[in-house]
Amino acid sequence: MPIIDMKDMLQHAYDHGYAVGAFDLVSLDFLEAILSAAEQARAPVILSLAESHFGYFDIELMMPAVEKAAERASVPVAIHLDHGADLDSAVRGIKLGCNGVMIDASHQEFSENIRITRAVADTAHACGIAVEGELGYVPGVEGEDAERHPEALAYTTPVEAKAYVERTGVDFLAVSVGTVHGRMKGKPRLDYQRLKQINEALSIPLVIHGGTGLSDAQFRRLITNGIAKINYYTALAEVAGASIRSSASSRKGNSYTNLVRDVRQTVSAEVESKMRLWGSAGRAAEVLARCQPWTPVEHVILYNLSGGDPEQAEMLMAEGRRVLGAIPGVREVVTGKTARENARYRYTWLIRFCHPKVIDSFREHPDHVAFADKLFRPLASDRVSVDYRIETDASTRKRHAASEKKGSHISTRALFGKALF
Ligand code: 13P
Repeated sequence: MPIIDMKDMLQHAYDHGYAVGAFDLVSLDFLEAILSAAEQARAPVILSLAESHFGYFDIELMMPAVEKAAERASVPVAIHLDHGADLDSAVRGIKLGCNGVMIDASHQEFSENIRITRAVADTAHACGIAVEGELGYVPGVEGEDAERHPEALAYTTPVEAKAYVERTGVDFLAVSVGTVHGRMKGKPRLDYQRLKQINEALSIPLVIHGGTGLSDAQFRRLITNGIAKINYYTALAEVAGASIRSSASSRKGNSYTNLVRDVRQTVSAEVESKMRLWGSAGRAAEVLARCQPWTPVEHVILYNLSGGDPEQAEMLMAEGRRVLGAIPGVREVVTGKTARENARYRYTWLIRFCHPKVIDSFREHPDHVAFADKLFRPLASDRVSVDYRIETDASTRKRHAASEKKGSHISTRALFGKALF
């Protein structure tokens, strides 16, 4: 289960002077290419899903594949929502499986940016999710020429950055120091002095957007001055496009499957070269050893209903799926009826939380309190419930190693939690 806590991942990069690549993916081919590069380079990696790309693929179909691929990777992975527009985007990203979210209100006035970002940070942190905010404005759109989106670049100022981070509580800050999204005309000129001052003022992992088009020397200087996450997409789209054009025009081997195989290889090579340049290559083992594994929690309730009216039971379950399923940090609500007539309990809920913190934030959420007090508890006094962390081979191995160090015994026992309902 090498999905790991993204805050731990970027803190490690920041402390050790390298940057993790956050590569926006737009297809299964990109997903496979990015992860095969990470495996090859033994690098931690961020699988990044940019909201501006959601028109090109079905995010609800893509995310189960992203999660599955991350879970079976042998290198540490985080899954990140890139450029989320508002609180609803962040909550949806968390529900779909992101364990880091970016809120981008950088085009707003300073105070409005703070208000929107603060709301996202409060909600996401209550779900155990790390948050990236942006201050200053990085123009352009990923995958396109920046000239087509010519809004003026606004630099981040160190004084505003300090106030922004203190007042929003973000874990990482995306800064504007001269980069643009997509291709820009001419060479980007970066303001390293400004970046240095921001880094000294904040001492948190900093993020650069618009990685495409920077030179090796520019990347190195950015990393020396606190950049711990680099967002990178346009160059991947370009090498993929060039690969398709060249394979399609060659006479042999231009079947569809050959074209996408070539895309995978080309994108993977580009990703791997950046992992080596940014210093994340070869870090997988130490990151896995030092960072918290991502451990979702499930909440199960077995219950009987007083009265035994089947219609009332259906109504209760439908309402629960609707109301509880919308609470931040809830991934899924499954309801069920016994398959055997003589069962001790006739009904079940299975509620999947993204993180153990949601046990508390869910219990205290007003929609849960209203549902439990007004509908559920009066009808279901005969019930048992349990919260348990999902055990995987990797999480068990990791805790085993930790407890061996301390000389204690590992417990794989489920965590019997406080009853929610
Ligand atoms: P590029 O497309 O310029 O590499 O930027 C990617 C990015 O910043 C995604 O958020």
